[in-house]
Amino acid sequence: MINGHTQLFGIIGDPVEHSLSPAMHNAALAHLGLNGVYVPMRPTDLTTAFHGLRSLGFIGVSVTVPFKVAIMDLLDAVDPVASKIGAVNTLVFERTGASTRCTGHNTDWLGSNRALAEVIDPAGRTILLIGAGGAARAVGFGLLEAGASVLLTNRTEAKGRKLADQMGCPFVPATELPQVRADALINTTSAGMTPRIDDMPIAPELLPHFPVIMDIVYAPLETRLLREAIACGCRAIDGLTMLQHQGAAQFTLWTGNEAPHPVMRQALLAALNGLHS
Ligand code: ATR
Repeated sequence: MINGHTQLFGIIGDPVEHSLSPAMHNAALAHLGLNGVYVPMRPTDLTTAFHGLRSLGFIGVSVTVPFKVAIMDLLDAVDPVASKIGAVNTLVFERTGASTRCTGHNTDWLGSNRALAEVIDPAGRTILLIGAGGAARAVGFGLLEAGASVLLTNRTEAKGRKLADQMGCPFVPATELPQVRADALINTTSAGMTPRIDDMPIAPELLPHFPVIMDIVYAPLETRLLREAIACGCRAIDGLTMLQHQGAAQFTLWTGNEAPHPVMRQALLAALNGLHS
């Protein structure tokens, strides 16, 4: 029921209409009987949209592409890991009297660490990270926060070396990948995503060198990488698991409640199926 006490949450992005977050967060709010609503929004101007959200009394807002970096200049504070990553995906608004303070967080790295932790604790492990874009930054700096050693590889070497230098970790060129052994491999590239579902971020014959393989691609849910990983006897973690954990971290930041994980995962699966039906 929407009434005078309904709390406002949402996501800003462009495009935003295919976001799975409204389904996940509205299911969690409803499950806990909280009077709140989470809506998708596509700003025409980020600055005016941000001031609108603040003045309208929004409690929490997710931020997605292309606003994750630009939003940072508008905030009152940014949490230290989000600063290191250089991107914010979560806004928390706190009203005191007439003024509202907005803090920026990044829950993508928490999501990837917690998704990985469903199978292995990243602390003290060696992880091969594939990719050098925004997703790789969040996952990579997150792994370092968790106490993992990261090896980074990327199709375009210069871009990969740059991120590896920023993270203070070794870069592995494609030619040296056959020699690499690690406790887990995480794909942060879009290789394998619909419609190019046969693309692989790494040669399939190398998969047995990584007992745990995590993909951040979730469309399709079982990517070729994960299918081949399972066939090699590796443990596989799908991309929806990271999305679920990053959303759960947001939900707790905004409401103070423990997130209802099974309800959120179910909602994500239903929304994903709806997108492709
Ligand atoms: P995001 O911010 O979502 O991470 P991005 O900044 O465009 O997206 O980065 C995409 C990453 O996926 C890059 O590391 C890219 O590799 P390049 O630097 O060589 O472009 C990687 N990527 C995309 N498609 C790929 C493919 N088919 N095979 C391997 N890597 C791919």
